[in-house]
Amino acid sequence: METVSIHDKKFRLYIPSEDIDQKVSDLALQLSKDLKGKELVFLVVLNGAFMFASDLMKKLKLPARVSFVKLASYEGSQSSGQVRELIGINEILKDKTVVLVEDIIDSGNTLDELLQALKPHEPKEIRVVSLLFKPDAYEQSFRIDYTGFRIPNDFVVGYGLDYDGFGRNLKDIFTVVEF
Ligand code: IMP
Ligand code: MG
Repeated sequence: METVSIHDKKFRLYIPSEDIDQKVSDLALQLSKDLKGKELVFLVVLNGAFMFASDLMKKLKLPARVSFVKLASYEGSQSSGQVRELIGINEILKDKTVVLVEDIIDSGNTLDELLQALKPHEPKEIRVVSLLFKPDAYEQSFRIDYTGFRIPNDFVVGYGLDYDGFGRNLKDIFTVVEF
């Protein structure tokens, strides 16, 4: 059994790179069909989606703008709560079809924040493509248009996804081993 250790946790091979590659090809084909003729802006959500987005964009047969965004946390000076701001949008999104590219959707709270932050930019429509989706953990109602793999509610690393900063550069996806 192929395993990797990161900090205190051990992970076992879960989705090999060949399967990821096939899935990314399928998604690219589907997107290329569905989004033909639209004015597209792909917004890649950093950091986790960098590897997925890179492979997906190469396989996409469409003219499209690609830009990178990040939800940055900072301590509000007034409020005690954490405020998150969407940084990196320097594209004009008004009346465009925005495709959010995510690595994983878990509770969906990040997605909800992204959608709220995009609203003032008045896109024509927003589509969501996520390589991984944890349906059992999902707490939101927004439809995930394109999902690569539906996975159980377990922690995974690799192919962009990290555990405390490490594991992003693994070419396969690994799942945590319970002791
Ligand atoms: P959310 O719960 O849908 O808001 O997901 C928040 C973020 O948690 C994701 O964008 C990932 O960065 C991270 N995350 C959720 N599940 C995992 C996982 O299994 N492995 C690594 N990161 C995860
Ligand atoms: Mg992420």
